[in-house]
Amino acid sequence: MSVDVKRLDGAEGFFEVVEKRHSVRRYKEYDIPDEDLKKILDAARLAPSANNSQPWRFIVVKDEETKKLLAEPRPQTFIADANAIVVVLGDVSVSCCNRATWVTRDPMIATEHLVLAATAMGYGACWIAMYESRPQEFLDRVRRRLKIPDNMHIVCLAAIGVPETEPRPTPKKALEDICFAEEFEKPLFQ
Ligand SMILES: Cc1cc2nc3c(=O)[nH]c(=O)nc-3n(C[C@H](O)[C@H](O)[C@H](O)COP(=O)(O)O)c2cc1C
Repeated sequence: MSVDVKRLDGAEGFFEVVEKRHSVRRYKEYDIPDEDLKKILDAARLAPSANNSQPWRFIVVKDEETKKLLAEPRPQTFIADANAIVVVLGDVSVSCCNRATWVTRDPMIATEHLVLAATAMGYGACWIAMYESRPQEFLDRVRRRLKIPDNMHIVCLAAIGVPETEPRPTPKKALEDICFAEEFEKPLFQ
């Protein structure tokens, strides 16, 4: 039986986005229009999640003072220069199964959707995932400022903005070093 695998229109564009995505940490001043933010956040909304629990919530921060607060812990001060910071939350009360695990994993999957969508829209983005280890006093201040309820876990941030310069690609491992056929380290591609 012949099987017709139909490549989606625009599939090449997806791979271009994946290749062009690099972490961007310097931004030009720019006010990201709401319609662009909406598209970017909609890509996050459509992400998969364990048991479709969709435990993510997103707070978009553009206010300069709040951005400065979020950027306070060194050495991540570049965050304050982002055009928008998306604070990614995980709802502990709805997250499925092993809550402690999925309450962070699902929102992180959504975050990568968001980062790729931002790239596709011509923006640069950077993950900031070191928030969990911040001092409790700092996290409490962030919670108060953003009015984050207790059942919401602060998972990570995504900084989005117009890149100041062309982002530089980072070295990536070769395909043959990470992909195997049937068993570990048995070459997949000849
Ligand atoms: C889970 C996760 C956490 C990250 N946390 C930070 C962070 O706190 N600060 C930062 O500047 N970059 C952060 N990054 C970006 C990585 O440093 C970056 O992805 C990596 O160096 C590869 O570079 P590339 O994104 O340009 O391919 C994070 C990325 C991921 C996926």
